[in-house]
Amino acid sequence: MSEFYRTLNDLDQQSHIQLLKNFSQHRSSTTYHHCKRVATMSYKLARFFHLSVHESQLARGAMLHDYYLYDAMKEDISPYRHGTSHANQALVNAQKVYNLTPLEQDIIYSHMWPLNITHVPKSKEAALVSISDKIVAIQEFLNIS
Ligand SMILES: [Fe+2]
Ligand SMILES: [Fe+2]
Repeated sequence: MSEFYRTLNDLDQQSHIQLLKNFSQHRSSTTYHHCKRVATMSYKLARFFHLSVHESQLARGAMLHDYYLYDAMKEDISPYRHGTSHANQALVNAQKVYNLTPLEQDIIYSHMWPLNITHVPKSKEAALVSISDKIVAIQEFLNIS
């Protein structure tokens, strides 16, 4: 098994990650399933384009990229405000429970680029997660994942 899938399986055993099942996302999904799809898509894209990536940090960053811990549909928050603020919130929350590397922080912080225009991805891993997040979000909105 690859380092990526080993890390993903490890994370799966953790209550901090299971917590993400409590929040819905993009109508048809939960934040847990969304993050798992984004992680897997990021890894598949890396493989497809023969990009060498840090597999365990890609898995951790992707699984935590939406660690904002609320239900955007139920909270009194506008879609724009949620869109621009939740990457920061996810990073703050994730850092309370995990010791994150700079690469993992970059993945979480920059995943909403270009909406967060100044949060430009600084790594291949962060760019892959940002792209995969958009692809998966469209699949979930259309309920085709
Ligand atoms: Fe997000
Ligand atoms: Fe996301």
